[in-house]
Amino acid sequence: MPGKYDKLQQQFLCCYPVKKMAWSTVKLPLNWEDQQELIAATCGHPMNKRYPVRRSYLEAFLKQLMHLLRDQEDVHDDIYSSLCGPMGDNPGSTGTSSSYGYKHYLLEPGVHITLRESKSFVSEGTTGLCTWEAALALADYLLQHRDLVVGKNIVELGAGAGLVGILLKLPALELKTGQVLLTDGSEPCVQLMRENIALNFVDKPSEERPQAEQLNWDAVNEFPWHSHAETDLLLAADVIYDDSQFDALLRALDYLYTRRGSRLETLLASTVRNMDTLHKFMTQLGLNGYKVTPCANVSACASHFCRDHTAAVQIISIRR
Ligand SMILES: C[S@@+](CC[C@H](N)C(=O)[O-])C[C@H]1O[C@@H](n2cnc3c(N)ncnc32)[C@H](O)[C@@H]1O
Repeated sequence: MPGKYDKLQQQFLCCYPVKKMAWSTVKLPLNWEDQQELIAATCGHPMNKRYPVRRSYLEAFLKQLMHLLRDQEDVHDDIYSSLCGPMGDNPGSTGTSSSYGYKHYLLEPGVHITLRESKSFVSEGTTGLCTWEAALALADYLLQHRDLVVGKNIVELGAGAGLVGILLKLPALELKTGQVLLTDGSEPCVQLMRENIALNFVDKPSEERPQAEQLNWDAVNEFPWHSHAETDLLLAADVIYDDSQFDALLRALDYLYTRRGSRLETLLASTVRNMDTLHKFMTQLGLNGYKVTPCANVSACASHFCRDHTAAVQIISIRR
């Protein structure tokens, strides 16, 4: 049965910006039972108890909630005790515990992805230790166009924290993909992806899990491709932001298309921060003999994720 605070729950568990949360679903004054229900749906959720969101997010959420309840006489003890909850520690993992926390992406009832992510957009020399809007948009697009992935061996470039590849192999979604290989040039990203794969595929044999390997676009020809299935679909989200990387990415594409030719399709999702950068890359693709087709817009309303929508995400298909 849908709960009163489902939207807030979905947003809290994936650390959606506190100020933009669905606070209008909280009808004031909030009686004792409702306060209890709201806390149970968010801070007290079993997933948060096991793998907590980062401390600073929890505090910001509770601060906003207490601000909302500022004119009420009774504030439930559970709200205060939530502040004493567990921290996002995971000894032996990448990064320091205070800079990391968990996010739980609820996709549909009973289906979720849990990722350990950095709170910083840039840390340990990479931008990939947290999930970006373009990855959420690409995941959405694939969920809405399942035929694109059925039976395909898929490689993701610059996969970061691993959301898209983990989604593609999630048993509950039954996407029926072939092998899924997540790659990134950053060693900490590969380590984090492996942690995140282990979190989401407990007790699953390796053939039912995505794999994660280090692959720098500069060294694509040194990668042991013979140990992996031939690639049918290449994915990349938010990798077009730094034009100093264009040549390396184009060389990687060239290497992979030379192996697979017209049997290979690439789907590239880019947050349009700077239209010039994206156009520049698309022009380069054209000059290198690729056919670039913009895909249908990923609908904001039909999103499986809590997306911020502050910037548009464009998805293009690349063929040669
Ligand atoms: C903005 S992050 C996007 C991460 C993830 N795709 C997402 O959208 O959440 C860009 C990613 O590309 C990776 N990357 C950048 N340059 C690279 C290169 N030359 N070779 C391999 N990976 C690279 C970074 O390490 C980082 O993980």
